Amino acid sequence: ALRVGRVREIATARRGLRGPLIPILHAIQEDLGHIDQADVPVIADVLNLSAAEVHGVVTFYRDFRRERGGRTTLRICRAEACQAVGAEALGAHARRRLGVDFGETTSDGAVTLDEVFCLGNCALGPAVQVDGRLHGRVSPARLDALLGEVVP
Ligand code: FES
Repeated sequence: ALRVGRVREIATARRGLRGPLIPILHAIQEDLGHIDQADVPVIADVLNLSAAEVHGVVTFYRDFRRERGGRTTLRICRAEACQAVGAEALGAHARRRLGVDFGETTSDGAVTLDEVFCLGNCALGPAVQVDGRLHGRVSPARLDALLGEVVP
């Protein structure tokens, strides 16, 4: 019930935007971690859309996570500047180490691995974010160390 109230609040605050659905979904994900199936009718109601329309958008964009994320979220920048300094190898390393692909959560619920396209830290790539905290020049070894703090 708490979640429904929060979803309604987020949606209502943005319903005046032009093309409000995507920004609302991003805001909900940022605030609550994922877009729950139960959020869909609430958003639809606020925007005067059908639940099917909202559901269609949620499932169309890979950006939106539909399950609860892990306790820690690791985001790896895969945009150009970071790619030029090894982000792809870093991403491959993270996938191997965690045993999940981008957009997935480890089976123990510890870590969600996400890709992101630019963290505004291009001069210090490869850039990653661990639970919202930015780290630059992250080598695979450094990533292991960062993960070691959250996944012993
Ligand atoms: Fe990675 Fe900008 S390209 S932070």
